[in-house]
Amino acid sequence: MTLSASSLNDAATQATQSDLFAPMQLGPLTLANRIVMAPLTRSRAGAADVPSEMAIEYYVQRASAGLIIAEATQVSAQGKGYVFTPGIYSADQVQAWKKITDGVHAAGGRIFLQLWHVGRISHPSLQPDGALPVAPSAITPAGQAYTEDGFVPLVTPRALATSEMPEIVQQYRSGAENALAAGFDGVEIHAANGYLLDQFLRDKTNQRTDAYGGSIENRARLLLEVTAAVVKVWGGDRVGIRLSPLSTFGDIADSDPQALFSYVVEQINAYKLVYLHLIEGDTGGSRELPGGFDPQILRRLFKGAYMANNGYDRQMALDARTKGSADMIAFGRPYIANPDLVERLRIAAPLNQPDPATMYGGGAKGYVDYPALNCV
Ligand code: PHB
Repeated sequence: MTLSASSLNDAATQATQSDLFAPMQLGPLTLANRIVMAPLTRSRAGAADVPSEMAIEYYVQRASAGLIIAEATQVSAQGKGYVFTPGIYSADQVQAWKKITDGVHAAGGRIFLQLWHVGRISHPSLQPDGALPVAPSAITPAGQAYTEDGFVPLVTPRALATSEMPEIVQQYRSGAENALAAGFDGVEIHAANGYLLDQFLRDKTNQRTDAYGGSIENRARLLLEVTAAVVKVWGGDRVGIRLSPLSTFGDIADSDPQALFSYVVEQINAYKLVYLHLIEGDTGGSRELPGGFDPQILRRLFKGAYMANNGYDRQMALDARTKGSADMIAFGRPYIANPDLVERLRIAAPLNQPDPATMYGGGAKGYVDYPALNCV
C-alpha cells in the first residue's frame, strides 16, 4: 500500500493540529496520547485461567496506545463466563500479569486491568463444582455460553442472597489488590455489557425486593459498594469505570436508562474516579438507538475524564477532540488487527482488517502476527 506524499502531508498536518496525538494527564499518569486500547476478550488464557506467555508480546506490540485497558478479567472463579478468559484471583495469575505489565512499561506504555464478574452470563461447566451462575434474579438470559464443548444455551441463574453481597464486594476488592500486586497502573470497573454489575443496575434483570433491588438507589447499591472497595485499594485517581447505558448486549435493558445512569454518574463522582468509559449506543453496533439519549448528558455530569467508545474512526476521533466531546477515544476492533494503531491514525494509513475466525481462542495466528506498518 502506498500513500501519496500530499495525502501524507495533509494527514500529518491534521494530526499535528489535533491534541489527539499529544500527551495528556490522567490523574497521576502522563499518557503519550489520547488513544486507548479498549478491553478485548481474546480467549487465549491457559490452564487455571493464567494469561499466556503470548499475551506479553500481544500487549507489548500495542504499548504505543496512550493507555491499554487489558481484557476483561474475572475477579473470582465464580466470575468466569467463557472458556480461556484470564483471572486475577490466584498467585500464578498475578505472576503472569506482572510479566505483561513489566513488558508494557519497558516499552513506555500504560496499562489498566478491567475487573470482571459475568454474573448470569456463564454456565455450570465454567463454574466451581458445576454450580449455577449467580445473578440478581433467577431470570434466564437469551443467548449462549461459550464452553469447552462449544456454544450451549445459557441457563437460569441462582439469585444471590442478600447475605452473599459482602462476598461479591470482597471478590472485587481482592481483584483490585491483586492487580496492584501485578504492577498495573490502575483498574477499570466493568459495569457494562450485561455482566453482573450491569445486571444489578437494570430493571430487566434485577427484580429483587431487598436493599439491592427496586429503586434506582437500590439497584446502584452493589456498584457503589464495589467502587468504594476498589477505590480504597487504588485511590480514585487510578480507577475508571465502564458503562453501556443503552446496550442490549447480554439480553439487558432498562425502563429509564437516562435516569438510572445519571444517578450512577452523580453518585460515583463522590469517589473521584479518573475516567468514565462509555460505550455509546449498542456494544459493537449502532450508535443511534430508538429511545436513546445523548451520552454527553453523562459526560457533563461526570467530574473526571470522558473516554468515548464504539465505532470511532480516525475522523470521528479528530472531530471529538475539535468539538471537545471526549477527552480520550477507546478503539476496540481496530486494535485487534493494528498493533501500531496510533501511528496508522496519525498518518491516515490504511488499517489491517481483523479476521473474525481468530478473534476468540486459538494461538498466535490472528493474535500476535498482525503486521505493523514498517513490516507490511
Ligand atoms: C466477549 O467475550 O465477547 C465480551 C467480553 C466482555 C465484554 C464484551 C464482550 O464486555
